[in-house]
Amino acid sequence: MNRFGVMKINRVSFANVEEMLRALQPVIPVYCIYPDVYEANARDFVAGFPGRVLYAVKANAYPDIIQLIYQGGVRHFDCASLAEIETVMQVCPDALCYFMTPVRLRGAAREAQSRFGVKHFMIDHLSGLEPLAGEIDMGSSVVFARMATSHPSAMQDLSVRFGAPPADVADILNAIAGAGAEPALAFNVGSSVTSPDAYRHAIGLARNVLAALPFEIRLIDIGGGFPRSYPGFEVPSLNEYFDVIRANVATLPPASNREVLVEPGRALAAPGLSAVVEVLLRKEQRLYLNDGMYGIFWELRFKGHERFPVRAFRDGKTLRGETQSFRLHGPTCDSTDTMPGEVELPVDIRPGDYLEFSGIGAYSLSGRTEFNGHYSDQLVTITG
Ligand SMILES: Cc1ncc(COP(=O)(O)O)c(C=O)c1O
Repeated sequence: MNRFGVMKINRVSFANVEEMLRALQPVIPVYCIYPDVYEANARDFVAGFPGRVLYAVKANAYPDIIQLIYQGGVRHFDCASLAEIETVMQVCPDALCYFMTPVRLRGAAREAQSRFGVKHFMIDHLSGLEPLAGEIDMGSSVVFARMATSHPSAMQDLSVRFGAPPADVADILNAIAGAGAEPALAFNVGSSVTSPDAYRHAIGLARNVLAALPFEIRLIDIGGGFPRSYPGFEVPSLNEYFDVIRANVATLPPASNREVLVEPGRALAAPGLSAVVEVLLRKEQRLYLNDGMYGIFWELRFKGHERFPVRAFRDGKTLRGETQSFRLHGPTCDSTDTMPGEVELPVDIRPGDYLEFSGIGAYSLSGRTEFNGHYSDQLVTITG
């Protein structure tokens, strides 16, 4: 049992990947959690961001990882389902969950509030208000109106399916206030947003909405979207994003007790996880691995980065030397089970060698499938 008495997170630990490989000689992929990396990274984000940090649980809902992000100082969690709320509440019962999606299962908002005390909800259309108001106590709730905003520097546009046109948002906020809840404003500039300018643009739209309202808005949720650098995909530092946000929030119509909320997923989930996979087959410059696009690499099918940092191992030791480019394939029979791009690896890489892909914690574990019977749930901790 942990200190909350609900869950013991105590995986097999190794000092480093070499030690793990010598001990396990794993046949299936092994996912390695680096606790110190997760904690330090979350701590840096919380220290640097000028506002309230909500971890977007969808990026990685694995309990161990939620707990490490919590230990790094994150106390607020952006959840998109009752199941995510239940997981967070089991791992860290004193955290606050926010139900930040306009689409919920019937009864989920009621249960979130009655069982877990959730106070923050979201709609993005007037039609969403009545069903929500029928499930929760509006008088003690904050309801966000989500505004659509797009920017060309986003790898994924999260306003394709969600968010009201800016011109409609004042009406939605008025309706929320009329229904007795505290109205608040949210938007999401996209995912893997490669230019801080996206936040300037969206905050500008928010400024116009706020200026048209007869009341103050205390909470502004600027969503997630902070990218990570990967090989071949270099992005600005987090501080450049934070500076733009700080400067532009200062231009909003003032409100007493104004707070800015942020929902980073990738920025908190990515850094502390790696996947250690085995080379099964080599055909010239093509390698077939025991994990692929239906497993830990599934997010590579979306626009964005194509590679992760990689190291090779043989006989439990790091493999170095001259390198060349390889194409990587997963283990399934499917013709699309091929990773985009190419990866530099030692020229004599061969079956039985292992590869460690690091920085793979975002949108990876949660997307694994059992397609073709390939699946691994083998997680270990690397303490070194
Ligand atoms: C509402 C919402 N908030 C936050 C995020 C997290 O995005 P990111 O991982 O790009 O920070 C997402 C991603 O889909 C989202 O839909």
